[in-house]
Amino acid sequence: MKILYGGDYNPEQWPEEIWKEDMRLLKLAHIDIVTLNVFSWASLQPDEDTYDFSKLDKIMEMIRENGLKVCMATSTGAHPAWMARKYPDVLRTGNNGIRRKFGRRHNSCPNSPTYRKYASALAEKLAQRYAEYDNIVAWHISNEYGGVCYCENCEREFRKWLQKKYGSIEELNRVWNLSFWSHNMYDWEDVVVPNLLSEEFEDDGIRSAFQGISLDYARFNSDSMLACFQMEKEILKRYTPEIPVTTNLMGTYKIVDYQKWAGSMDFVSWDNYPSCEEEPADIAMRHDLMRGLKQGQPFALMEQTPGVSNWQAFCKLKRPGVMRLWSYEAVAHGSDTVMFFQMRRSIGACEKYHSAVIDHVGNEHTRVFREVAELGEELENKVRDLTLGGRTKSEIAIVFDWDNWWAAEYSAGPSRLINYCQEVKQYYKALFSQNYSINMISVEDDLSAYKLVIAPLLYMCKEGYDEKIREYVKQGGTFVTTYFSGYVEEHDLVVPGGYPGKLKDILGIWVEESDALPETEANSFLYKGKGYPARILCDLMHLQGAEALACYESDFYQGMPVLTKHSFGKGNAYYVGTRSDETFYGRFLRDICEGLDIRPVAETPDGVEAVVRENVNGSFLFLLNHHLNTEKVFISRPGTEILTGKKYAQGDTLVLPGAGAAILQRDCRDKEGGK
Ligand code: GLA
Ligand code: ZN
Repeated sequence: MKILYGGDYNPEQWPEEIWKEDMRLLKLAHIDIVTLNVFSWASLQPDEDTYDFSKLDKIMEMIRENGLKVCMATSTGAHPAWMARKYPDVLRTGNNGIRRKFGRRHNSCPNSPTYRKYASALAEKLAQRYAEYDNIVAWHISNEYGGVCYCENCEREFRKWLQKKYGSIEELNRVWNLSFWSHNMYDWEDVVVPNLLSEEFEDDGIRSAFQGISLDYARFNSDSMLACFQMEKEILKRYTPEIPVTTNLMGTYKIVDYQKWAGSMDFVSWDNYPSCEEEPADIAMRHDLMRGLKQGQPFALMEQTPGVSNWQAFCKLKRPGVMRLWSYEAVAHGSDTVMFFQMRRSIGACEKYHSAVIDHVGNEHTRVFREVAELGEELENKVRDLTLGGRTKSEIAIVFDWDNWWAAEYSAGPSRLINYCQEVKQYYKALFSQNYSINMISVEDDLSAYKLVIAPLLYMCKEGYDEKIREYVKQGGTFVTTYFSGYVEEHDLVVPGGYPGKLKDILGIWVEESDALPETEANSFLYKGKGYPARILCDLMHLQGAEALACYESDFYQGMPVLTKHSFGKGNAYYVGTRSDETFYGRFLRDICEGLDIRPVAETPDGVEAVVRENVNGSFLFLLNHHLNTEKVFISRPGTEILTGKKYAQGDTLVLPGAGAAILQRDCRDKEGGK
């Protein structure tokens, strides 16, 4: 066992003469796993009745002979042209109501009977045919599920989905508040998909006149794709029950509710493609979110680019060492694989300038190849199986919820500047920058193991969630939430009786009004003697048991509280009534953590990330230098750095070159608390 190393390999797009050379090069790069068959439906099934596995058979034989493991995809992420021609119901309809033509990928309507029929058939044939290959280590269903369809099949299925969820048309009228604008519906047939032909309109993005309808459609659309995943999974399990099944997720991808999906996946895998302007905290947060989907179980880094991604506005090169650094970052946050898209750079269509292990030059004499090969060697000989299965302990949880994301951003008012992921990231980054270990959890997860739970922008507080928080705080937990929280229940209906709804008693406040400021304006407040900005939304609140930790400094609400603390039961609940800046969050959260005796996993210079994973082999401290200059880390707990074999005593200094990574293996010592 070791960290699996490899990624997408598409030999079917190349003449066979090249395959042999590929095998030589992959071996040189220490690659031991390939993801096959991601986009081959058209050649596997050239027409309705014909299947042709001859090429895939050859590929599978070659891969087996070369001792490579396989992550076997089912090819259902893009349908063949004949299917689109013969059965147009397989084509998606856009939010403008126009049915698309054959083109692009991730293009099938998830509710198309044609798609369901032929996707099942293909999955079954693949499972039957390749079940005997014991080098298949995982099934990879479809590819990066996403997008939305608004076709008639979807409309029909949406009605059924609603019927099942709400039971009666009266209840539908209630949850969607249909007496507004005379929308009362008499029959399920009155339901139409919410798109640009009905409730939605374009205005700085897609807005909706009935957010409740759009919200349910988002849920339905995610569920529809999940049903496709489950359908294929069930078939695969019939033939190969022991092979784990996954699909590659995309981190903070809004359209698919991964927290709902995770229960159906045997393990989580995801594709890490940060854009040029993103920072280490963005990547780390997504890793933690993906790890949290299955309560901290290790995940697979299914794809990353070895160099550039073609789809960016400009394809900035990953600096020397950065691919290795980001690979170790994935491992640090819970990955048991390091995988790439793709093995050989294609010569046509939109990914021909996307990096690959083997570049257009076709040999091993490239910087990217050398870096891939060096990392492969290191993983094979130094890291080996040491970190596998490692878990992350954390006393801090940040709550993330897809329904809440959808609802908060559909909201018409109070501000278009409200951005759920951005708000969550403020809190994540403040903790991340100080090397606190963080778990990203869902509203379904247990809170009791955490000393601190932060739920930024908890706009939608679903049935029972207030009770969960109430109990948690009563029992001694510390809870932090922000402006625009507690407003609505799960149907996006406002909870009457004052904001923040059912969280009022826990927080000991009442928010009477909120002042939405344009980007260029800010109020301010003093916290522990220092001034900080108040932006985006400024809550005007009254204390109802809480104490004010800071008050606004200007405007007609000068002197009103902006930051509060409420001692409730044995715990405390904090409320941050505005958006402030990085230094504020850093200071505020550090104060809370210190008060709770939560410690960072290590003290490091700015830009050096420290993350811990633990398993039976010990406690692994990953030190990741996101700067391109050398940094020094003071070692407070002795251990052996596994990439160099060097031993470090307490008080030693570990020198990290620019983009350098170190993994310090230390004896496990049980810390109390955390999960
Ligand atoms: C995604 C897909 C791959 C490939 C890469 C390119 O992650 O899954 O097929 O298109 O993007 O970045
Ligand atoms: Zn559809």
